[in-house]
Amino acid sequence: MRAGLQLDGQGRLHHFLSIEGLDNQTLLQILDTAESFISVGEREIKKVPLLRGKTVVNLFFEPSTRTRTTFEIAAKRLSADVINVDTRVSSTTKGETLLDTIRNLEAMRTDLFVVRHSMSGAAYLVAQHVPPHVRIINAGDGSHEHPTQGMLDMFTIRRYKGSFENLRVAIVGDILHSRVARSQIHALNTLGVAEVRVIAPKTLLPTAVERLGVSVYTDMHTGLEDVDVVIMLRLQRERMQGARIPSEQEFFNLYGLTLDKLELAKEDAIVMHPGPMNRGLEIDSSVADGPQSVIFPQVTNGIAVRMAIMAIIMGGKAQREHPDSERLRRRA
Ligand code: CP
Repeated sequence: MRAGLQLDGQGRLHHFLSIEGLDNQTLLQILDTAESFISVGEREIKKVPLLRGKTVVNLFFEPSTRTRTTFEIAAKRLSADVINVDTRVSSTTKGETLLDTIRNLEAMRTDLFVVRHSMSGAAYLVAQHVPPHVRIINAGDGSHEHPTQGMLDMFTIRRYKGSFENLRVAIVGDILHSRVARSQIHALNTLGVAEVRVIAPKTLLPTAVERLGVSVYTDMHTGLEDVDVVIMLRLQRERMQGARIPSEQEFFNLYGLTLDKLELAKEDAIVMHPGPMNRGLEIDSSVADGPQSVIFPQVTNGIAVRMAIMAIIMGGKAQREHPDSERLRRRA
């Protein structure tokens, strides 16, 4: 993937396509800008005028609850006009190509497209073909990246843990098919956590996954020992070819997060899940709804983080530096 496509000549974020290739200054800018948008969601009038007069089109070719809705709320809170294209009844069902759909919507003077597609690289393809004044945000492309999810997860971790250094983070489950895991791994390493662990059966690990900068565990009991953050992933059956697990019951027994397995992590460890959750498959309800779960705060934080990304790439300004950012910037 051409990470350079998302930066302009001055190294500023132009599109938001992947976390891979972005430096820690850019990631901290997003996190700090999102801090300043949290309070907007707590006001009676939840609106700021940063994107007034701009048109945002949500173009989702795969199902979504959280991402599509929080992008819509985020754009509306920035005062943009938002159109949700229902791709099930759009002309793509009559054979129109992705690029022709984009060209037609662009002819309607769209300023920003939020694109989710089953094909890895779809958002890059679109970004290569739009004129310079049009911006693209990747809302998940195949099994490549889901960068806004990765950033809202970083925001949530910093809110609960204060800083990134010294943290041990475990990502558990279907790493092989997870665009979320890839974005999280790039972000966690760029932000300088002490260790990123992946825990999964060998059949759900990408080849040479350790090259991404992770420690690899196939046993949940050793992998969860002393971690500060546990991130559970959904089994992505829609992307699996052939049987990757012996049975759902056996997967849950070995890799499902239960209260007794969570006890191996630090006492104050937080539990995250990008959603949608499969209760009883990768996570037990007692954990998902328990005191260590921050799964629903992740969703709330997604609005501020998506507002931040849209404001930054559209040139808006609103940033409040987090105390941890200055230290990380000096270290870079
Ligand atoms: N986390 C996530 O992408 O959820 P949706 O598929 O509901 O958008």
